[in-house]
Amino acid sequence: MEYAVSNIATQDLDVDSLVVCLHKDASNLAGAVPEATQATIKALVEAGDFTGKKQQVLTLFSPEGLKVKRLILIGTGVDENTPLNIVAFTKLATEVQKAVANTGSQSAAWFIDNLQVEGQDKTWHVREASRTLADAQYRYTHYKSKPAPAPKVNNWQIISHADKNRAALALKEGVAVAKGMALTKDLANCPPNDCFPEILAEQALALAEEYPALKVKIITEEEAFDMGMGAFCAVAQGSENEGRIIIFEYGDMKASPAALVGKGITFDTGGISLKPGAGMDEMKYDMGGAASVFGTIKALCELNAPVNVVGLVVAAENMPDGSATRPGDIVTTLSGQTVEILNTDAEGRLVLCDGLTYVQQEYSPSVVVDIATLTGACVIALGAHAHGVMANDAELAHALLEAGDNTGDRGWPLPLWDDYQQQLDSPFADIANIGGREAGTITAACFLSRFTKEARWAHLDIAGTAWVSGGMKKAATGRPVPLLTRFVLDGAGQ
Ligand code: BES
Ligand code: MN
Ligand code: ZN
Repeated sequence: MEYAVSNIATQDLDVDSLVVCLHKDASNLAGAVPEATQATIKALVEAGDFTGKKQQVLTLFSPEGLKVKRLILIGTGVDENTPLNIVAFTKLATEVQKAVANTGSQSAAWFIDNLQVEGQDKTWHVREASRTLADAQYRYTHYKSKPAPAPKVNNWQIISHADKNRAALALKEGVAVAKGMALTKDLANCPPNDCFPEILAEQALALAEEYPALKVKIITEEEAFDMGMGAFCAVAQGSENEGRIIIFEYGDMKASPAALVGKGITFDTGGISLKPGAGMDEMKYDMGGAASVFGTIKALCELNAPVNVVGLVVAAENMPDGSATRPGDIVTTLSGQTVEILNTDAEGRLVLCDGLTYVQQEYSPSVVVDIATLTGACVIALGAHAHGVMANDAELAHALLEAGDNTGDRGWPLPLWDDYQQQLDSPFADIANIGGREAGTITAACFLSRFTKEARWAHLDIAGTAWVSGGMKKAATGRPVPLLTRFVLDGAGQ
Protein backbone atom coordinates (compact mmCIF):
# COMPACT_ATOMS: atom_id res chain seq x y z
CA MET A 1 0.00 0.00 0.00
CA GLU A 2 1.25 3.45 -0.94
CA TYR A 3 0.39 6.50 1.14
CA ALA A 4 0.92 10.11 0.11
CA VAL A 5 -0.15 13.56 1.22
CA SER A 6 -0.75 16.46 -1.15
CA ASN A 7 -2.57 19.77 -1.38
CA ILE A 8 -3.93 19.20 -4.87
CA ALA A 9 -7.37 20.74 -5.51
CA THR A 10 -10.05 18.06 -5.45
CA GLN A 11 -11.24 18.90 -9.00
CA ASP A 12 -7.75 17.99 -10.30
CA LEU A 13 -7.66 14.66 -8.47
CA ASP A 14 -7.57 11.60 -10.67
CA VAL A 15 -8.39 8.71 -8.34
CA ASP A 16 -11.16 6.12 -8.23
CA SER A 17 -12.72 7.40 -5.00
CA LEU A 18 -12.65 10.71 -3.18
CA VAL A 19 -13.97 10.72 0.38
CA VAL A 20 -15.30 13.85 2.07
CA CYS A 21 -16.66 13.74 5.63
CA LEU A 22 -19.55 16.11 6.19
CA HIS A 23 -21.14 17.44 9.35
CA LYS A 24 -24.91 17.75 9.80
CA ASP A 25 -26.51 19.68 6.93
CA ALA A 26 -23.14 19.57 5.13
CA SER A 27 -22.09 22.69 7.05
CA ASN A 28 -18.38 22.07 6.37
CA LEU A 29 -18.75 21.64 2.61
CA ALA A 30 -17.15 24.92 1.51
CA GLY A 31 -13.72 24.42 -0.08
CA ALA A 32 -14.02 20.64 -0.24
CA VAL A 33 -15.33 20.34 -3.78
CA PRO A 34 -15.97 22.76 -6.70
CA GLU A 35 -19.20 24.81 -6.93
CA ALA A 36 -20.96 22.43 -9.32
CA THR A 37 -20.50 19.48 -6.94
CA GLN A 38 -21.49 21.59 -3.96
CA ALA A 39 -24.79 22.39 -5.67
CA THR A 40 -25.55 18.68 -6.11
CA ILE A 41 -24.75 17.97 -2.46
CA LYS A 42 -26.88 20.89 -1.26
CA ALA A 43 -29.78 19.51 -3.31
CA LEU A 44 -29.28 16.11 -1.66
CA VAL A 45 -29.35 17.74 1.75
CA GLU A 46 -32.51 19.69 0.92
CA ALA A 47 -34.20 16.54 -0.38
CA GLY A 48 -33.38 14.83 2.91
CA ASP A 49 -31.19 12.21 1.19
CA PHE A 50 -28.09 13.26 3.09
CA THR A 51 -28.29 14.57 6.66
CA GLY A 52 -24.71 14.14 7.79
CA LYS A 53 -25.71 11.83 10.63
CA LYS A 54 -23.03 9.57 12.04
CA GLN A 55 -21.91 6.72 9.73
CA GLN A 56 -24.22 7.81 6.89
CA VAL A 57 -22.58 6.97 3.56
CA LEU A 58 -23.74 8.34 0.23
CA THR A 59 -21.92 7.72 -3.03
CA LEU A 60 -22.13 9.97 -6.08
CA PHE A 61 -20.95 8.23 -9.23
CA SER A 62 -19.34 10.43 -11.94
CA PRO A 63 -19.89 13.54 -9.81
CA GLU A 64 -20.27 16.82 -11.65
CA GLY A 65 -17.17 19.04 -11.65
CA LEU A 66 -14.79 16.28 -10.54
CA LYS A 67 -12.54 13.85 -12.41
CA VAL A 68 -12.85 11.10 -9.81
CA LYS A 69 -15.06 8.09 -10.52
CA ARG A 70 -16.94 8.47 -7.29
CA LEU A 71 -17.37 10.91 -4.49
CA ILE A 72 -18.16 9.22 -1.18
CA LEU A 73 -19.82 11.39 1.44
CA ILE A 74 -19.63 10.22 5.05
CA GLY A 75 -21.60 11.79 7.90
CA THR A 76 -19.71 12.83 11.02
CA GLY A 77 -22.85 13.38 13.11
CA VAL A 78 -21.34 16.62 14.39
CA ASP A 79 -22.86 20.11 14.13
CA GLU A 80 -21.30 23.55 14.59
CA ASN A 81 -21.95 23.54 18.33
CA THR A 82 -20.25 20.23 19.07
CA PRO A 83 -16.67 20.22 17.79
CA LEU A 84 -15.11 17.01 16.55
CA ASN A 85 -13.04 15.31 19.25
CA ILE A 86 -9.93 13.19 18.81
CA VAL A 87 -11.60 9.85 19.35
CA ALA A 88 -14.40 10.69 16.88
CA PHE A 89 -11.81 11.77 14.31
CA THR A 90 -9.78 8.59 14.66
CA LYS A 91 -12.95 6.50 14.40
CA LEU A 92 -13.92 8.33 11.20
CA ALA A 93 -10.88 6.88 9.47
CA THR A 94 -12.35 3.40 9.94
CA GLU A 95 -15.54 4.53 8.20
CA VAL A 96 -13.52 6.06 5.39
CA GLN A 97 -11.51 2.88 4.88
CA LYS A 98 -14.60 0.68 5.00
CA ALA A 99 -16.57 2.80 2.55
CA VAL A 100 -13.78 2.64 -0.04
CA ALA A 101 -13.07 -1.05 0.56
CA ASN A 102 -16.71 -1.75 -0.32
CA THR A 103 -16.16 -0.40 -3.84
CA GLY A 104 -13.95 -1.65 -6.67
CA SER A 105 -11.55 1.28 -6.17
CA GLN A 106 -7.82 0.83 -6.63
CA SER A 107 -6.91 4.37 -5.67
CA ALA A 108 -8.53 6.69 -3.19
CA ALA A 109 -8.16 10.06 -1.54
CA TRP A 110 -9.46 11.52 1.72
CA PHE A 111 -9.94 15.28 1.89
CA ILE A 112 -9.37 16.30 5.53
CA ASP A 113 -9.11 20.10 5.40
CA ASN A 114 -12.78 20.49 6.36
CA LEU A 115 -12.30 18.58 9.63
CA GLN A 116 -11.02 20.40 12.68
CA VAL A 117 -10.33 18.72 15.99
CA GLU A 118 -10.20 21.36 18.69
CA GLY A 119 -6.71 22.49 19.61
CA GLN A 120 -4.91 20.48 16.93
CA ASP A 121 -3.06 21.89 13.93
CA LYS A 122 -3.08 20.73 10.31
CA THR A 123 0.04 18.60 10.73
CA TRP A 124 -1.61 16.70 13.56
CA HIS A 125 -4.59 15.99 11.32
CA VAL A 126 -2.34 14.56 8.61
CA ARG A 127 -0.52 12.37 11.11
CA GLU A 128 -3.60 10.97 12.77
CA ALA A 129 -5.53 10.57 9.51
CA SER A 130 -2.72 8.56 7.96
CA ARG A 131 -2.15 6.48 11.06
CA THR A 132 -5.78 5.58 11.58
CA LEU A 133 -6.38 5.01 7.88
CA ALA A 134 -3.34 2.72 7.59
CA ASP A 135 -4.35 0.94 10.80
CA ALA A 136 -7.87 0.37 9.47
CA GLN A 137 -6.42 -1.71 6.61
CA TYR A 138 -5.24 -4.37 9.09
CA ARG A 139 -6.56 -7.94 8.69
CA TYR A 140 -5.53 -11.10 10.50
CA THR A 141 -6.22 -13.97 8.13
CA HIS A 142 -3.17 -16.13 8.78
CA TYR A 143 -5.14 -19.21 9.84
CA LYS A 144 -8.06 -18.95 7.40
CA SER A 145 -7.87 -21.49 4.55
CA LYS A 146 -10.03 -19.23 2.41
CA PRO A 147 -9.54 -15.65 3.59
CA ALA A 148 -12.02 -13.08 2.28
CA PRO A 149 -10.45 -11.30 -0.69
CA ALA A 150 -8.54 -8.16 0.31
CA PRO A 151 -9.85 -4.79 -0.90
CA LYS A 152 -8.31 -3.72 -4.23
CA VAL A 153 -7.09 -0.32 -3.03
CA ASN A 154 -3.32 0.04 -3.27
CA ASN A 155 -2.93 3.79 -3.22
CA TRP A 156 -4.19 6.31 -0.65
CA GLN A 157 -3.80 10.06 -0.72
CA ILE A 158 -4.53 12.42 2.14
CA ILE A 159 -5.53 15.84 0.86
CA SER A 160 -4.49 18.66 3.18
CA HIS A 161 -3.15 22.20 2.99
CA ALA A 162 -0.73 21.63 5.83
CA ASP A 163 2.83 22.85 5.25
CA LYS A 164 4.32 20.49 2.67
CA ASN A 165 7.46 19.35 4.51
CA ARG A 166 5.77 19.01 7.85
CA ALA A 167 2.88 17.14 6.24
CA ALA A 168 5.26 14.67 4.62
CA LEU A 169 6.90 13.98 7.99
CA ALA A 170 3.53 13.67 9.70
CA LEU A 171 2.39 11.13 7.11
CA LYS A 172 5.59 9.16 7.54
CA GLU A 173 5.08 9.09 11.29
CA GLY A 174 1.44 8.08 10.99
CA VAL A 175 2.24 5.19 8.66
CA ALA A 176 5.20 4.08 10.82
CA VAL A 177 3.02 3.90 13.93
CA ALA A 178 0.40 1.91 12.00
CA LYS A 179 3.14 -0.53 10.93
CA GLY A 180 4.19 -0.88 14.55
CA MET A 181 0.58 -1.49 15.56
CA ALA A 182 0.25 -4.15 12.86
CA LEU A 183 3.23 -6.02 14.30
CA THR A 184 1.75 -5.73 17.80
CA LYS A 185 -1.57 -7.10 16.53
CA ASP A 186 0.07 -9.95 14.58
CA LEU A 187 1.98 -11.11 17.65
CA ALA A 188 -0.99 -10.75 19.99
CA ASN A 189 -3.53 -12.40 17.70
CA CYS A 190 -1.22 -15.35 17.03
CA PRO A 191 -2.54 -18.50 18.78
CA PRO A 192 -0.60 -19.56 21.87
CA ASN A 193 0.54 -22.86 20.34
CA ASP A 194 2.45 -20.81 17.78
CA CYS A 195 3.41 -17.90 19.99
CA PHE A 196 5.50 -18.85 23.01
CA PRO A 197 8.62 -17.24 24.49
CA GLU A 198 11.10 -18.82 22.07
CA ILE A 199 9.00 -17.65 19.14
CA LEU A 200 8.90 -14.12 20.50
CA ALA A 201 12.69 -14.26 20.78
CA GLU A 202 12.93 -15.38 17.15
CA GLN A 203 10.62 -12.56 16.09
CA ALA A 204 12.81 -10.07 17.92
CA LEU A 205 15.91 -11.37 16.14
CA ALA A 206 14.06 -11.11 12.84
CA LEU A 207 13.25 -7.47 13.61
CA ALA A 208 16.94 -6.78 14.22
CA GLU A 209 17.72 -8.36 10.83
CA GLU A 210 15.26 -5.97 9.23
CA TYR A 211 16.63 -2.84 10.93
CA PRO A 212 20.43 -2.65 11.31
CA ALA A 213 20.04 0.16 13.87
CA LEU A 214 18.44 -2.33 16.24
CA LYS A 215 20.31 -4.77 18.49
CA VAL A 216 18.66 -7.72 20.20
CA LYS A 217 19.90 -9.78 23.14
CA ILE A 218 18.24 -12.89 24.50
CA ILE A 219 18.51 -14.30 28.03
CA THR A 220 17.43 -17.93 28.37
CA GLU A 221 15.49 -19.28 31.35
CA GLU A 222 18.58 -21.11 32.56
CA GLU A 223 20.67 -17.94 32.37
CA ALA A 224 17.92 -16.00 34.14
CA PHE A 225 17.97 -18.62 36.93
CA ASP A 226 21.76 -18.35 37.28
CA MET A 227 21.47 -14.56 37.41
CA GLY A 228 19.06 -14.80 40.34
CA MET A 229 15.75 -14.02 38.69
CA GLY A 230 13.80 -16.22 41.09
CA ALA A 231 10.43 -14.55 40.49
CA PHE A 232 10.63 -14.76 36.70
CA CYS A 233 11.66 -18.42 36.90
CA ALA A 234 8.88 -19.24 39.39
CA VAL A 235 6.42 -18.40 36.63
CA ALA A 236 8.33 -19.95 33.73
CA GLN A 237 9.13 -23.26 35.48
CA GLY A 238 5.64 -24.78 35.15
CA SER A 239 5.72 -24.90 31.37
CA GLU A 240 7.32 -27.16 28.75
CA ASN A 241 8.01 -23.96 26.83
CA GLU A 242 11.04 -22.21 28.27
CA GLY A 243 10.95 -18.59 29.33
CA ARG A 244 12.99 -15.91 27.59
CA ILE A 245 13.99 -12.35 28.33
CA ILE A 246 14.28 -10.29 25.17
CA ILE A 247 16.17 -7.02 25.05
CA PHE A 248 15.96 -4.44 22.27
CA GLU A 249 18.68 -1.82 22.13
CA TYR A 250 17.90 1.16 19.93
CA GLY A 251 20.28 4.14 20.03
CA ASP A 252 23.02 4.85 22.58
CA MET A 253 22.80 2.58 25.62
CA LYS A 254 25.31 4.69 27.57
CA ALA A 255 23.12 7.79 27.32
CA SER A 256 20.50 6.84 29.96
CA PRO A 257 17.95 5.43 27.51
CA ALA A 258 14.24 5.38 28.17
CA ALA A 259 13.21 1.85 29.16
CA LEU A 260 10.03 0.13 28.04
CA VAL A 261 9.32 -3.13 29.86
CA GLY A 262 6.55 -5.40 28.56
CA LYS A 263 4.71 -8.27 30.24
CA GLY A 264 4.98 -11.22 27.87
CA ILE A 265 2.87 -14.06 29.29
CA THR A 266 2.22 -15.95 26.06
CA PHE A 267 -0.56 -17.85 27.81
CA ASP A 268 -1.93 -17.37 31.31
CA THR A 269 -3.75 -20.40 32.68
CA GLY A 270 -3.35 -19.00 36.19
CA GLY A 271 -0.94 -21.83 37.02
CA ILE A 272 -1.88 -23.96 40.06
CA SER A 273 -4.31 -21.15 41.00
CA LEU A 274 -6.07 -22.18 37.80
CA LYS A 275 -8.41 -19.76 36.06
CA PRO A 276 -12.01 -20.75 35.25
CA GLY A 277 -12.41 -22.21 31.75
CA ALA A 278 -14.80 -19.73 30.17
CA GLY A 279 -13.00 -17.29 27.91
CA MET A 280 -9.59 -18.57 28.91
CA ASP A 281 -8.51 -18.53 25.26
CA GLU A 282 -8.26 -14.75 25.55
CA MET A 283 -5.31 -15.20 27.88
CA LYS A 284 -3.22 -15.61 24.73
CA TYR A 285 -3.38 -11.79 24.79
CA ASP A 286 -1.52 -11.71 28.11
CA MET A 287 1.59 -10.79 26.13
CA GLY A 288 -0.05 -7.57 24.90
CA GLY A 289 2.41 -5.41 26.82
CA ALA A 290 5.34 -7.24 25.24
CA ALA A 291 3.73 -6.95 21.82
CA SER A 292 3.39 -3.19 22.30
CA VAL A 293 7.12 -2.96 23.03
CA PHE A 294 7.82 -4.79 19.75
CA GLY A 295 5.45 -2.44 17.89
CA THR A 296 6.87 0.74 19.39
CA ILE A 297 10.43 -0.34 18.62
CA LYS A 298 9.39 -1.10 15.04
CA ALA A 299 7.76 2.33 14.64
CA LEU A 300 10.93 4.03 15.96
CA CYS A 301 13.09 1.97 13.58
CA GLU A 302 10.83 2.88 10.64
CA LEU A 303 11.28 6.54 11.51
CA ASN A 304 15.02 6.37 12.16
CA ALA A 305 14.05 8.29 15.28
CA PRO A 306 16.98 10.03 17.03
CA VAL A 307 16.14 8.55 20.44
CA ASN A 308 17.71 6.12 22.90
CA VAL A 309 15.39 3.34 23.97
CA VAL A 310 15.88 -0.02 25.62
CA GLY A 311 12.93 -2.38 25.26
CA LEU A 312 12.74 -5.37 27.56
CA VAL A 313 10.26 -8.20 27.23
CA VAL A 314 9.78 -10.77 29.99
CA ALA A 315 8.31 -13.77 28.19
CA ALA A 316 6.97 -16.87 29.91
CA GLU A 317 4.03 -19.23 29.76
CA ASN A 318 2.05 -19.58 33.01
CA MET A 319 1.21 -23.31 33.13
CA PRO A 320 0.38 -25.76 35.95
CA ASP A 321 2.66 -28.78 35.43
CA GLY A 322 4.41 -30.95 38.04
CA SER A 323 7.21 -28.46 38.48
CA ALA A 324 4.90 -25.47 38.71
CA THR A 325 5.08 -23.03 41.61
CA ARG A 326 2.67 -23.73 44.49
CA PRO A 327 0.68 -21.13 46.41
CA GLY A 328 2.82 -20.56 49.52
CA ASP A 329 6.16 -20.92 47.75
CA ILE A 330 8.66 -18.20 48.61
CA VAL A 331 11.17 -17.03 46.01
CA THR A 332 14.06 -14.59 46.00
CA THR A 333 13.88 -11.91 43.33
CA LEU A 334 16.83 -10.43 41.44
CA SER A 335 16.58 -7.41 43.75
CA GLY A 336 17.21 -9.64 46.77
CA GLN A 337 13.72 -9.09 48.18
CA THR A 338 11.74 -12.26 48.91
CA VAL A 339 8.18 -12.82 47.71
CA GLU A 340 5.54 -15.16 49.08
CA ILE A 341 3.53 -16.35 46.07
CA LEU A 342 0.03 -16.66 47.52
CA ASN A 343 -1.64 -16.83 44.13
CA THR A 344 0.13 -18.16 41.05
CA ASP A 345 -2.33 -16.24 38.86
CA ALA A 346 -0.73 -12.98 39.97
CA GLU A 347 2.22 -13.89 37.73
CA GLY A 348 2.60 -10.70 35.71
CA ARG A 349 4.11 -8.77 38.59
CA LEU A 350 6.50 -11.68 39.24
CA VAL A 351 7.99 -11.69 35.77
CA LEU A 352 7.99 -7.89 35.62
CA CYS A 353 9.77 -7.30 38.93
CA ASP A 354 12.90 -9.12 37.80
CA GLY A 355 12.79 -7.42 34.40
CA LEU A 356 12.47 -4.03 36.10
CA THR A 357 15.41 -4.71 38.42
CA TYR A 358 17.55 -5.96 35.53
CA VAL A 359 16.88 -2.99 33.26
CA GLN A 360 17.80 -0.55 36.03
CA GLN A 361 20.99 -2.39 36.96
CA GLU A 362 22.16 -2.78 33.39
CA TYR A 363 21.10 0.46 31.66
CA SER A 364 20.61 3.24 34.27
CA PRO A 365 17.55 4.38 32.33
CA SER A 366 16.29 7.98 32.51
CA VAL A 367 12.73 6.68 32.86
CA VAL A 368 11.18 3.23 33.13
CA VAL A 369 7.71 2.51 31.81
CA ASP A 370 6.22 -0.95 32.10
CA ILE A 371 3.25 -2.06 30.04
CA ALA A 372 1.16 -5.00 31.21
CA THR A 373 -2.21 -6.73 30.95
CA LEU A 374 -1.87 -6.93 34.69
CA THR A 375 -5.24 -7.00 36.45
CA GLY A 376 -8.84 -7.92 35.73
CA ALA A 377 -9.66 -5.17 38.26
CA CYS A 378 -8.47 -2.57 35.74
CA VAL A 379 -11.06 -3.81 33.24
CA ILE A 380 -13.71 -3.31 35.92
CA ALA A 381 -12.42 0.16 36.83
CA LEU A 382 -11.80 1.69 33.39
CA GLY A 383 -13.38 -0.69 30.89
CA ALA A 384 -12.02 -0.95 27.37
CA HIS A 385 -11.33 2.75 26.85
CA ALA A 386 -8.49 3.92 29.07
CA HIS A 387 -5.20 2.39 30.18
CA GLY A 388 -4.63 2.61 33.92
CA VAL A 389 -1.70 4.95 34.57
CA MET A 390 0.26 4.81 37.82
CA ALA A 391 3.63 6.38 38.53
CA ASN A 392 6.08 7.40 41.26
CA ASP A 393 6.72 10.67 39.39
CA ALA A 394 3.95 13.16 38.59
CA GLU A 395 5.70 14.68 35.56
CA LEU A 396 6.24 11.29 34.00
CA ALA A 397 2.59 10.37 34.53
CA HIS A 398 1.61 13.69 32.97
CA ALA A 399 3.79 13.07 29.90
CA LEU A 400 2.19 9.66 29.36
CA LEU A 401 -1.33 11.02 29.78
CA GLU A 402 -0.54 13.83 27.32
CA ALA A 403 0.82 11.39 24.74
CA GLY A 404 -2.41 9.41 25.12
CA ASP A 405 -4.62 12.49 24.77
CA ASN A 406 -2.69 13.57 21.68
CA THR A 407 -3.23 10.27 19.88
CA GLY A 408 -6.68 9.27 21.15
CA ASP A 409 -4.92 6.31 22.84
CA ARG A 410 -5.87 7.54 26.26
CA GLY A 411 -4.89 6.61 29.79
CA TRP A 412 -6.33 7.68 33.13
CA PRO A 413 -4.50 8.06 36.46
CA LEU A 414 -5.02 5.95 39.57
CA PRO A 415 -3.43 6.84 42.94
CA LEU A 416 -0.28 5.08 44.04
CA TRP A 417 -0.42 6.23 47.65
CA ASP A 418 1.57 4.56 50.41
CA ASP A 419 -1.75 3.80 52.14
CA TYR A 420 -2.17 0.80 49.83
CA GLN A 421 1.28 -0.70 50.43
CA GLN A 422 0.38 -2.52 53.66
CA GLN A 423 -2.01 -4.77 51.73
CA LEU A 424 1.11 -6.55 50.44
CA ASP A 425 2.45 -7.48 53.90
CA SER A 426 3.42 -11.14 54.30
CA PRO A 427 3.97 -12.97 57.61
CA PHE A 428 6.84 -14.96 56.09
CA ALA A 429 8.50 -13.02 53.25
CA ASP A 430 9.31 -9.39 52.45
CA ILE A 431 6.27 -9.04 50.18
CA ALA A 432 3.17 -11.05 49.27
CA ASN A 433 2.29 -11.20 45.59
CA ILE A 434 -1.38 -10.33 46.11
CA GLY A 435 -3.08 -7.60 48.11
CA GLY A 436 -6.64 -8.79 48.63
CA ARG A 437 -9.88 -7.82 46.89
CA GLU A 438 -9.69 -4.07 47.28
CA ALA A 439 -7.96 -1.83 44.72
CA GLY A 440 -6.43 -4.75 42.82
CA THR A 441 -4.97 -2.59 40.07
CA ILE A 442 -3.28 -0.28 42.56
CA THR A 443 -1.87 -3.02 44.80
CA ALA A 444 -0.41 -4.70 41.69
CA ALA A 445 1.32 -1.41 40.88
CA CYS A 446 2.40 -1.12 44.53
CA PHE A 447 4.09 -4.50 44.16
CA LEU A 448 6.04 -3.22 41.14
CA SER A 449 6.90 0.01 42.97
CA ARG A 450 8.95 -2.03 45.44
CA PHE A 451 11.32 -2.78 42.59
CA THR A 452 11.54 0.70 41.04
CA LYS A 453 12.30 2.88 44.06
CA GLU A 454 15.44 4.35 42.50
CA ALA A 455 13.89 5.10 39.10
CA ARG A 456 11.44 7.55 37.57
CA TRP A 457 8.90 4.88 36.86
CA ALA A 458 5.39 4.52 35.48
CA HIS A 459 3.12 1.55 34.96
CA LEU A 460 0.44 1.17 32.29
CA ASP A 461 -2.23 -1.45 33.02
CA ILE A 462 -3.59 -2.34 29.58
CA ALA A 463 -5.78 -5.29 30.63
CA GLY A 464 -8.88 -3.61 29.21
CA THR A 465 -7.36 -1.92 26.18
CA ALA A 466 -4.93 -4.38 24.54
CA TRP A 467 -7.65 -6.40 22.86
CA VAL A 468 -11.36 -6.37 22.11
CA SER A 469 -12.99 -9.20 23.99
CA GLY A 470 -15.54 -11.80 22.94
CA GLY A 471 -17.11 -13.47 19.93
CA MET A 472 -16.37 -12.49 16.35
CA LYS A 473 -15.10 -9.07 17.42
CA LYS A 474 -12.19 -10.61 19.30
CA ALA A 475 -9.02 -8.87 18.13
CA ALA A 476 -5.86 -7.17 19.29
CA THR A 477 -6.07 -3.35 19.22
CA GLY A 478 -2.40 -2.41 18.74
CA ARG A 479 -2.66 -0.17 21.79
CA PRO A 480 -0.73 1.48 23.42
CA VAL A 481 1.72 1.77 20.50
CA PRO A 482 0.40 5.23 19.49
CA LEU A 483 0.78 6.52 23.06
CA LEU A 484 4.23 5.01 23.58
CA THR A 485 5.65 6.17 20.26
CA ARG A 486 4.38 9.72 20.86
CA PHE A 487 5.77 9.65 24.39
CA VAL A 488 9.23 8.60 23.19
CA LEU A 489 9.31 11.02 20.24
CA ASP A 490 8.29 13.86 22.56
CA GLY A 491 11.31 13.21 24.79
CA ALA A 492 10.06 10.48 27.11
CA GLY A 493 8.88 12.81 29.84
CA GLN A 494 12.18 14.69 30.28
N1 BES B 1 -3.49 -11.61 33.00
C1 BES B 1 -4.28 -11.49 34.18
C2 BES B 1 -5.08 -10.19 34.22
C3 BES B 1 -6.24 -10.09 33.27
C4 BES B 1 -7.43 -10.76 33.55
C5 BES B 1 -6.16 -9.29 32.16
C6 BES B 1 -8.51 -10.62 32.68
C7 BES B 1 -7.24 -9.16 31.32
C8 BES B 1 -8.41 -9.83 31.58
C9 BES B 1 -3.38 -11.51 35.40
O1 BES B 1 -2.27 -12.32 35.32
C10 BES B 1 -4.20 -12.04 36.52
O2 BES B 1 -4.60 -13.16 36.45
N2 BES B 1 -4.44 -11.21 37.52
C11 BES B 1 -5.25 -11.59 38.63
C12 BES B 1 -4.60 -11.04 39.86
C13 BES B 1 -5.19 -11.57 41.14
C14 BES B 1 -4.89 -13.04 41.29
C15 BES B 1 -4.63 -10.79 42.30
C16 BES B 1 -6.65 -10.99 38.44
O3 BES B 1 -6.76 -9.88 37.94
O4 BES B 1 -7.61 -11.67 38.76
MN1 MN C 1 -2.66 -14.33 35.87
ZN1 ZN D 1 -1.54 -12.62 33.46
